[in-house]
Amino acid sequence: MKLGELNVNRIGYGAMRVIEDPDIWGPPKDRANAHRVLRRAYELGANFFDTAESYGPHHSETSIAEAMHPYPKDLVIGTKCGLVRPRKERWDEDGRPEKLRQDLEGSLKRLKLERIDLYQLHAPDPKVPFEDQVGTLARFQKEGKVRHVGLSNITVKQLEAARKIVPIVSVQNRYNLGDRHSEDVLHACERLGIAFLPWYPLGDGSSLRTGKVKALAQKLGAKPSQVVIAWLLKKSPVMLPIPGTGNLAHLEENMAAAQLQLDDVDFKSL
Ligand SMILES: NC(=O)c1ccc[n+]([C@@H]2O[C@H](COP(=O)([O-])OP(=O)(O)OC[C@H]3O[C@@H](n4cnc5c(N)ncnc54)[C@H](OP(=O)(O)O)[C@@H]3O)[C@@H](O)[C@H]2O)c1
Repeated sequence: MKLGELNVNRIGYGAMRVIEDPDIWGPPKDRANAHRVLRRAYELGANFFDTAESYGPHHSETSIAEAMHPYPKDLVIGTKCGLVRPRKERWDEDGRPEKLRQDLEGSLKRLKLERIDLYQLHAPDPKVPFEDQVGTLARFQKEGKVRHVGLSNITVKQLEAARKIVPIVSVQNRYNLGDRHSEDVLHACERLGIAFLPWYPLGDGSSLRTGKVKALAQKLGAKPSQVVIAWLLKKSPVMLPIPGTGNLAHLEENMAAAQLQLDDVDFKSL
């Protein structure tokens, strides 16, 4: 599928989880494992990695560079800006242009890149005019430091407003079997032909424990995670799930979901 003009496979990797801490705070608990998971994700076909300045903070990006640099030609890395972590339980928006600039320069350095393929505003900051935040990302693109601009945690109205300022190639909102609040945003992405990256694609693991999913998985001889990811893939051609895991066995399962095709009856039963 397309991310701008870039080709990526249908299942990406959510690199927030290399940290293996429930608060996504600090360096990975097991650095060697983090590197193994990242390399294996790429080997298994995840050639889009999602990360953010705020994961760790910084440690998810650093781990990606440690494990993968020099990068394979077809690996697309998307990172995000505009959050601040004063302590582990806080994820505060900070969309001031100077903070976004600081995030960009830090991400370029940590990821060892001269240009970031996908740069996403993590969440609009209500204290700063939305147009100024998007305008700042547009400036980064003009400077050649960002290839494509994406948005996260936005409404259809915000997507429309942003598109008047700069081309938007992706939206990343919370979406999974049990939480379809962003269905209107998904439909807008379909209409516009831009990628929709559902975060919490496994419902943070909770979708895997529902009776319907477990029963269908048993019937199909598949894992619950595969049923849930296959459902997302069938749901829309613009869907780019980014399941997160720090566990190699889970990673293998998640990536193998690309081979599972749900028929219409099973799809509608979920
Ligand atoms: N834009 C945003 O605001 C935002 C917010 C949150 C996340 N994200 C991005 O979206 C990505 C995906 O979200 P997420 O990682 O929070 O949630 P998720 O992918 O829905 O679920 C991850 C959780 O499920 C577990 N898991 C993964 N595969 C499994 C399997 N096959 N069987 C059983 N358990 C499994 C993981 O634990 P193990 O590690 O033990 O496998 C982890 O606890 C993140 O990594 C991040 O890149 C973005």
